[in-house]
Formats: sequence, C-alpha cells, structure tokens
Amino acid sequence: MNDRRGAFVVFEGLDGAGTSTQARLLAERLSRERPNLKVRSTAEPTSGPIGSLIRQILQGRTVGMTARGEVIPFDRKSLALLFAADRLDHVACEIDPLVQAGWLVISDRYVWSSLAYQSIDAPMDWVDIVNRYAPQPDLVFALEVPASLGLARVDASRPGREIFEHEESQNHVSIAYREAFKCHPAGRVVVLSGDRPPAEIAEDVWIAVRELID
Ligand code: TYD
Repeated sequence: MNDRRGAFVVFEGLDGAGTSTQARLLAERLSRERPNLKVRSTAEPTSGPIGSLIRQILQGRTVGMTARGEVIPFDRKSLALLFAADRLDHVACEIDPLVQAGWLVISDRYVWSSLAYQSIDAPMDWVDIVNRYAPQPDLVFALEVPASLGLARVDASRPGREIFEHEESQNHVSIAYREAFKCHPAGRVVVLSGDRPPAEIAEDVWIAVRELID
C-alpha cells in the first residue's frame, strides 16, 4: 500500500458462504493489529437509496404490477441494472473517496455477485457491460461452499428466504462464479474453501491481506 492510496478488498460467495463473517473478522483483526490503519467495512446491496430498494425487492415487498393491475415479480433485468447502479453510487460516494484518502475499504460483495447471480436472468456479458465502470479491487476473496451448506446456514440464521435463496438459483450461482472470474478478471483472487471453521478461514484471509498492506 503506498502512502496516499489505500486499498479495496472484496469478499464474494454464495448465500451462507460466510462473506459477512469473514469481512467482520478481518476488520476486527485489523483494528487490533494495525490500529493506525483507517478501515471501513461496507456491503452491497448498500444501505443507500438504491440498495434499500433492492432489499425490498429481494424480500418480495416491492413487486411489479401490469397495466391491468396484476401483481407480477419485479423484472429481473431491471434488478440487474439496480445492482449496477447501487454499485456505481457506492463507488462514487464511499469506495473511491475513502481509498483515495488512504483507507482500506472492505466490501461484502461486489461486481462478481452481479455476474454470478444476475446471469440467472440475463447473459453474463451484458451484466459485465453494465458494470464496466466499477473499478477493480486490489484483492478478492472467493469463499466456496456447497449450495446446500450455504442454504442450511441461511435457514439457521434468520426466518424466511430471499428471492435467490433456493437450491436451483444457488446451484447456478456456484457454477457462474467460476465463469465470472474469467469474464471479469480481478487484481488478485484468493479462492478459499468456506467449509471450515471461521477462524481457520480468517487465518488464510489474514495472510493475503498482510501481503497487501505491509
Ligand atoms: P447478502 O450479502 O446475502 O445480504 P444478506 O446476508 O444481508 O441477506 O446479499 C443479498 C442478496 O443479493 C444475495 O442473495 C446476493 C444478492 N446479490 C445479487 O444478486 N447481485 C448483486 O450484485 C449483489 C451485490 C447481491
């Protein structure tokens, strides 16, 4: 890490892969072991205006309605555009200004989530095009878990499921993630098995992050 620019680190994976847990453990370890480093934890969908709308769609609280008054699912290609718009807003308001000011920004999900999830409903190369202006992170962690394990963790953590939290979608996403890293290369991708105790995964994360920051 040079003096002025900070760094941008991303966690990716299926629902229940442990991205939120690993992002949190990394931020905690940085605050203990590198107290002088300015660290910002963030996530997509964001808590901003577009991210809040996306959350409602994921929960089925915002739907579509035809001119004849029929309620239909929210259009999935429009949702893909919302994810891309939320991301660019995230970059403009938070990621870019902080990284330029020397912060280490950790995001729970980024472009590869869109490529893997939105390719259920649209061609991946189109999803890639609408994400063209999202800048490259310095380091991406891809946490791999079987879809069934991820869903079991989701079910244990909260009641109800969101629109992509089903075996069929997760099986697509699992395969599509591998394609996504070929379609849209990252600065550095570290693939980790998420089917292990969180502390063990966190150790592997720490080794890669230390190389980046020291
Ligand atoms: P997630 O990080 O799982 O949030 P939470 O743990 O709070 O539910 O993200 C919500 C869902 O959104 C998840 O199923 C993945 C999906 N998603 C996309 O489909 N595309 C995207 O670009 C992003 C960022 C998330």
